[in-house]
Amino acid sequence: MNNFYYSIPTKILFGKGQIENLGQTVKQYGKRVLLIYGGGSIKKIGLYNKVMQQLADNGVEVVELSGVEPNPRITTVNKGAQVCKEEGVDVVLAVGGGSTLDCAKVVAAAANYEGDAWDLVKDASKVKKVLPIITVLTLAATGSEMDAYAVISNMETNEKLGTGHEEMKPKVSILDPEYTYSVSKYQTAAGTADIMSHVFEEYFERSEGAFLQNRMAEAILKTCIKYGKIAVESPEDYEARANLMWASSLALNGLMHYGKAGSWSVHPMEHELSAFYDITHGVGLAILTPHWMKYVLDETSVDKFVEYGVNVWDIDKNQDKYVIAKQAIQKTREYFLSLEIPMSLREVGIEEEKLEVMARQATRFGDIKGYKTLSAEAVLEIFKAAY
Ligand code: NZQ
Ligand code: ZN
Repeated sequence: MNNFYYSIPTKILFGKGQIENLGQTVKQYGKRVLLIYGGGSIKKIGLYNKVMQQLADNGVEVVELSGVEPNPRITTVNKGAQVCKEEGVDVVLAVGGGSTLDCAKVVAAAANYEGDAWDLVKDASKVKKVLPIITVLTLAATGSEMDAYAVISNMETNEKLGTGHEEMKPKVSILDPEYTYSVSKYQTAAGTADIMSHVFEEYFERSEGAFLQNRMAEAILKTCIKYGKIAVESPEDYEARANLMWASSLALNGLMHYGKAGSWSVHPMEHELSAFYDITHGVGLAILTPHWMKYVLDETSVDKFVEYGVNVWDIDKNQDKYVIAKQAIQKTREYFLSLEIPMSLREVGIEEEKLEVMARQATRFGDIKGYKTLSAEAVLEIFKAAY
């Protein structure tokens, strides 16, 4: 196990009714808040009114930024930063899914930056002072509620880039699983695939000795496999929504990464798909994952796939290693199919002639140095297999 520095500073208020603590929580960080939300789902589920009531009851003044897009745009971030500067905002409150939270994080950073917020996305070292961020999560997927990252799109340049800073970790996140009851089947399935992918990115790596982290990773995968299906079929199953919500946070708050040295593979490939085609992030990951797994399966990785197949999918371990590995990959694909995720790039509207340019973009900073190094040709091969 490698050395590591543990820092997970986000306070979590988890469970039914925790919204009742929102007003007093925000008040601790300032008296003027920028409330950021998406296209209106928080109004449909009655959460907007509760938030406003909480803020009013605690004497907090509110300005708003609404309409954050799925795959949030840099134009919206810049608008939010402008509002912060003009209105003297003390604290940023994001209510919604990962896109809203990510937008809020860069707004909070850009509020103290003179210039285009895109600079902070392209170069995280330019992030200095960040307004305090509080979140109320409504979709279990990205882990943004407890991590330092934000992923922002620039549709003019077809770029979707991640940035991150320790100060961009939310101070407090309210996680009430009941607010995810209204998430559509499609987004629930995509969110489940996203959580699983975050775990895969850490699980499939080469460091030795992180036994504990690997067992925790398998527990999160099993949780997603069990409860993703239940949540898709019974959206108001509290146990399912609660387990998925906590899995979302644990998958990406650092716990899976501590003691390991790996970097990610499938996310950098997927980000090109959503940069060019604005597709749902988790769907892109689900489509690519089994093909990436097939591509990286070789003599150096087969034991890891056996570990995955036996521990996560309960595959009989008394078989040939490659038989187990291939079954594990097949089960992964079948699981995503069972959630009714479209399982080819063609089905989500991607054009074959764009595969090459996306593969080149995915490697524009150099080969993807993940579980197995991926050149532009390798990425293209995976894209073609997934087509
Ligand atoms: O905009 P509204 O009206 O809120 O609707 C959203 C949106 O249409 C809807 N939704 C959210 N909560 C709902 C709901 N609908 C009904 N009931 C609710 N309770 O769902 C749609 C998708 O929302 P979005 O926030 O885009 O989804 P998600 O949470 O999956 O976020 C995806 C974004 O996060 C990035 C992705 O790349 C993508 O841009 N990621 C962020 C990461 C991070 N910060 O660490 C890591 C991830 O790997 C990922 O890259
Ligand atoms: Zn993701």
